[in-house]
Amino acid sequence: MKYLNLGCGDRFHPTWTNVNFTSNHPDILAHNLTQGIPFAPASFQAIYHSHLLEHFSKTQAPNFLKECHRVLQPNGIIRIAIPDLEQITRSYIFSLEQALQGSQEAADNHTWLLLELFDQIVRNQSGGDMAAYLLQKHIPNEEFILKRLGTEARNLIEAGRQQRQNPPSSDTWLKQTFRPLYKFLKSSHHRRETLLKLVLGKTDYQALEIGRFRLGGEIHQWMYDRHSLSQLLKDTGFTQITQRTATESYIPNWTSFNLDTEPDGSIYKPDSLYMEAIKP
Ligand SMILES: C[S@@+](CC[C@H](N)C(=O)[O-])C[C@H]1O[C@@H](n2cnc3c(N)ncnc32)[C@H](O)[C@@H]1O
Repeated sequence: MKYLNLGCGDRFHPTWTNVNFTSNHPDILAHNLTQGIPFAPASFQAIYHSHLLEHFSKTQAPNFLKECHRVLQPNGIIRIAIPDLEQITRSYIFSLEQALQGSQEAADNHTWLLLELFDQIVRNQSGGDMAAYLLQKHIPNEEFILKRLGTEARNLIEAGRQQRQNPPSSDTWLKQTFRPLYKFLKSSHHRRETLLKLVLGKTDYQALEIGRFRLGGEIHQWMYDRHSLSQLLKDTGFTQITQRTATESYIPNWTSFNLDTEPDGSIYKPDSLYMEAIKP
């Protein structure tokens, strides 16, 4: 089986070739995919990427899909899961109209949908305002969010609860005072950063940090709907372009890999648009 999972994050299958910006597991190859896909032409029968394409700029995305096309064998399958712009904006308009009629539930959903639309694009810190919302003690529209975001939101909400139940022990005065000095002496990375701060000054160092974060693969740079994604696939040379559900696929035994679904049959990222196509 020659299957490739790109931008896999923590979601990978051991029988697939898995690639991600950074790797925390021997089954994941670390590689920056804006530099191309590091395999020979026609190496794979299927390529899958979930919630990756939106991390490329509008100009990078066509080149990335050309790379997918290059490394696929003839009759190879591409499967893409991506946040669904159409679905988010329809839900946003619906919540806006209901909020204007005075519904508090809709107003909470409207707040959340604005985060979904913009926070992932404009944030300058990992997790952004979405994580802050999910980590609050009382989430007014938890069920609504879980229905949209599935496993990832559930894990974050649960982590927040665990942390509130078992807060990390607070540092002693001594540790707090000497930690910066200890770090400075112990780590060359920390020494380099301290020197950079001194040379650049506060504002320029902050600009460097924001730049590093924004190039680090977390923020969204574009969004797609079923029309624009299908057009992009067509322009790249793919055929048989089809919208899918989480469980339908050209890939045989798709659900057995538990990539878009969980072992209990629930959907991993219900807010997704799923699309597949074939390399002729
Ligand atoms: C939203 S996560 C999705 C992870 C996983 N596919 C999933 O559906 O849960 C996006 C992943 O794409 C990776 N990524 C973003 N830009 C990348 C790039 N240029 N090269 C390789 N991986 C990248 C990130 O490191 C992150 O793991």
